[in-house]
Amino acid sequence: MSFDGHQAPLLDVASLRGEFPILSREAYGKPLVYLDNAASAQKPRAVINAMKDAMEHSYANVHRGLHLLSNEATAAFEDARKTAAAFLNAPSPDDIVFTGGGTDAFNLVAYALGVSEIGEGDEIILSLMEHHSNIVPWHLLRERKGAVLKWLDVSEDGAIDLDAYRAMFTDRTKLVAISHMSNVLGAATPAKEMAKIAHDHGAKILLDGCQAGVHGPVDVSDIDCDFYVLTGHKLYGPTGIGVLYGRRDVMYDLPPFRGGGEMIDTVTTEAVTYNDPPHRFEAGTPAILEAIGLGAALSWMQDKGVDAIAAHEAALAAHALEELSKLNFVRVFGRAPGKAPIIAFAVEGAHPHDVSAILDRTGVAVRAGHHCAQPLMKRLGVTATSRASFAAYNTHEDVEALIRGLQKTHQMLS
Ligand code: ALA
Repeated sequence: MSFDGHQAPLLDVASLRGEFPILSREAYGKPLVYLDNAASAQKPRAVINAMKDAMEHSYANVHRGLHLLSNEATAAFEDARKTAAAFLNAPSPDDIVFTGGGTDAFNLVAYALGVSEIGEGDEIILSLMEHHSNIVPWHLLRERKGAVLKWLDVSEDGAIDLDAYRAMFTDRTKLVAISHMSNVLGAATPAKEMAKIAHDHGAKILLDGCQAGVHGPVDVSDIDCDFYVLTGHKLYGPTGIGVLYGRRDVMYDLPPFRGGGEMIDTVTTEAVTYNDPPHRFEAGTPAILEAIGLGAALSWMQDKGVDAIAAHEAALAAHALEELSKLNFVRVFGRAPGKAPIIAFAVEGAHPHDVSAILDRTGVAVRAGHHCAQPLMKRLGVTATSRASFAAYNTHEDVEALIRGLQKTHQMLS
C-alpha cells in the first residue's frame, strides 16, 4: 500500500469542504479544525441525503416484501453491497457481509472460527499494534476455547520483520489477525506478503482495514486475504454498519454467528438449515439505512478518487510531520515513510488529556488516550498519547492551526 500518490489527480478540497455541513460550524467562536478522523469521520451531504431520501421515499424492510417500497429498499441495500464489493475489488457482492461495524465483524469471525476450527492449543498470531476490537474477540477465544495468542513485535515506526513473522508459525497456527494500518502509528503492513506467508503455512489471514480502507485503495483479490474488515463511520459513512469481506470457500465453511430471520433456509420445530453467505451472517432486519449511507459514502470516495484523497492526505501528513519536527518539545510516534495522516505525539511535560483540552479551546479537535491500543502503548513505553488524524477535507491551514495550538499549549504548560 503506497500513499505517495504522485500520479493521482488533484482534489478540489475547497469545494469538497462545502459538501460537509458540519465543517461550517465553529468551536468556541473559532473555525472548527477537526483532526479526530481516525476515531470517526464527518459525513458529506451525499451520505446524509441518501439516508434521508431512503427514509422519506423508499423505506421498508428488505428481502421480505413483494411491494414497491420493499423492492426499492432491497435494491438500494443490495446496490450498497455491490458498491462495497467494487470498493474492495472483491470477486462478487456475495462476498460482502454487512455487519454492525468493525467490532461486530471481528466478533463474527472469532465466534464462527471458534465453533468450526479453532480449539484448545490452536494458535492465533496478532501484532502488538492491534486496536482492541481486533484483540478482545481473540482473547474471548483464548478464554473460552483455550486458543493461544502469539504476539508479533513491531518497530517503534510500526514496521514488521517478515522473518520474525515467518518464524512464529507452527503446525498449530490457524489464523493471523492483523491491522492493515495502525490507528496510532499510521504505518501500513505488508499485507500481501503476510497473506502469502500465512497461506504457505496453512493458516488463514484476517486484515483489519478500519484505517487502511480510508486512506488508499484496497484490493482484496490482489492481497489474497481470507477476511477483510471495514467500518462505516471512519469511511465518511454512518455508525452501526461495517463490512466483512470473506473468501467464498472460507465463508461457505463457516457456521452462523447470530440466529434469526434471513439467515435461514428452513426452520421446523425440530431443526434449522442455514442460508448461503452472505445472508447466513445477516440475521434479522439489517441496518438498512446505514448500509445505504455506507454505499453512498463509498461512492462519494470513488467519485472524488481514492487515489486523489490519498495523495492530498499524504501531502498533509508530510507537512504536519515537517512542522512538528521543528517543535523541540514534541515527540512524534511513528515516522514510517509514506505513513498515513495519523500522527500520535507527546508534548514534553504535558499529559495528553491536557494537550487535547487546550487544543480544543483553540478550535482544534484531536484524540487523547490509549487509542484502544494498550499493548502498543506499552510497547512504546507510554500510557497515552495525543493523536491528530487527517481526512480528505482537512487543509494545510488545519496543519498550521495544530502547530499554533501546540505552541500555545507549550507556553501554557511550561
Ligand atoms: N479505533 C478508533 C480510534 O482509533 C476508535 O480512535
